[in-house]
Amino acid sequence: MNRPSVLFVCLGNICRSPLAEAAFRAEAQRIGLDAVVDSAGTADYHVGEPPDPRAIRTAARFGVDISGYRGRQAVAADFARFSHILALDHSNLASLRRIAPVSHGAHLGLLLDLVPGREGEAVADPWYGNEEDFLVTWHEVSQAARALVAQLNR
Ligand code: 4NP
Repeated sequence: MNRPSVLFVCLGNICRSPLAEAAFRAEAQRIGLDAVVDSAGTADYHVGEPPDPRAIRTAARFGVDISGYRGRQAVAADFARFSHILALDHSNLASLRRIAPVSHGAHLGLLLDLVPGREGEAVADPWYGNEEDFLVTWHEVSQAARALVAQLNR
């Protein structure tokens, strides 16, 4: 089996997609799935920056240290590097479609499409929210990460 490679994409790459990357890493490690994983933002606002402190604290509560993650912007070449590209919301998905090469082999979709009953939904941006909103984000991305790891492990 080819090693799966997964890219999670939000707007700033400092709140939602780093949490999705963290949840996926934790779950892949738990079941022993060997996968490449990364996250990116559609915007360049936070390139080179660590995740939001609230995201760092939230991941730490669940045993994942994301303080070393650094923001980067999604690029067209990601469509050749990753087998699965998951957008956190519809706007991120539309932005990814705009930069996608005309022809590519990656699966591009909404992250919550992986969660039964949540198809077509967005992971809400917790940027203007509080610690509780980051917890909600963690639970949403964790559900999707569990589903994706199980799917890739089949
Ligand atoms: P993220 O959250 O897309 O989940 O990383 C945001 C982070 C920063 C901004 C917006 C959303 N911003 O406008 O700087």
